[in-house]
Amino acid sequence: MNTFYRGRRLRRNQALRTLMQDVSLSSNDLIMPYFVADVAEKEFYKPINSMPGQAQYSIHSLLKRVEKAVKAGLKACILFGIPSTKDSCGSQGWLETGIVQRAVKALKSEFPNLIVVTDVCLCEYTAHGHCGVLSPNGEVLNDPTLELLSKVALSHAIAGADIVAPSDMMDGRVAAIRHALDQQGFENLAIMSYAVKYASSFYGPFREAAESAPQSGDRKSYQMDFANSSQALLEAEADVNEGADILMVKPIGAYLDILRLLHDNFSLPLAAYQVSGEYSMIKAAAEKGWINEEAVILESLIGIKRAGASLILNYFTEELLLKGLVK
Ligand code: PBG
Repeated sequence: MNTFYRGRRLRRNQALRTLMQDVSLSSNDLIMPYFVADVAEKEFYKPINSMPGQAQYSIHSLLKRVEKAVKAGLKACILFGIPSTKDSCGSQGWLETGIVQRAVKALKSEFPNLIVVTDVCLCEYTAHGHCGVLSPNGEVLNDPTLELLSKVALSHAIAGADIVAPSDMMDGRVAAIRHALDQQGFENLAIMSYAVKYASSFYGPFREAAESAPQSGDRKSYQMDFANSSQALLEAEADVNEGADILMVKPIGAYLDILRLLHDNFSLPLAAYQVSGEYSMIKAAAEKGWINEEAVILESLIGIKRAGASLILNYFTEELLLKGLVK
């Protein structure tokens, strides 16, 4: 007589294990981040030291890179721009001829079925590297920034972006952007809000990649404190009420509980961002031969799906598709 649960019965062989799987990963779940730089050199390709395999591209090199990825099954990407000049309010961020705006146009005309998401923020465009405008004493001003973010989002919409993704963490930005888009006839353009975004040291490599490190201070007055859990629901709820279509949690590895919390409390689709530092840690350990890279990547991404994400922004997307590890 059996007095205990024999869980091993359904794990006896691979066929049984596969039959029992209830979480999967496909190309429809993945969004690949790309860094596009405003440079004159056509073939520009500048590897990012702290993110092996990732680079800044000119529009021309980006198109070539994306062409291969699309052939391998890439469905969606998110763009980060590196402008040629920066100023105190980030005005290159909303130029009609800005780097992201030109890249969106080029990508959409070559690959009309590729979903192009744009990151809406000022930190790559401001000389001081903060995500908003500063007061004379260096405080990041909330309400004056909203107008600028709306201009950035609108310029991305005009360029042809499929989804805009505000990542600045100013209060009220989703409402401001939604209003600006609606007023100009973009009521069908979706907003993927970086709703729950923590002030994280896992962003380190990204700041090299996007040349967006704050020149003084940190982002702790607008990004969230990882030692607080109750603000996650408040931030998400605010963005739902302001008109967000997709909610994002970022980073994700140390925040899977927060993703699950949102999953249990909201019906909107959820996205998770496996950020630069999470990517680089896996790459570094793999380079040393300490872990099985492909296995660890898949385990980390399936874990994110299991916790409740429908979309995962992550830097492994291209590689997984090109190697045929994800279909
Ligand atoms: C811009 C932005 C950041 C990331 C995405 N959008 C950097 C930051 O907030 O400092 C981080 C992405 C990554 O680390 O991969 N605000």
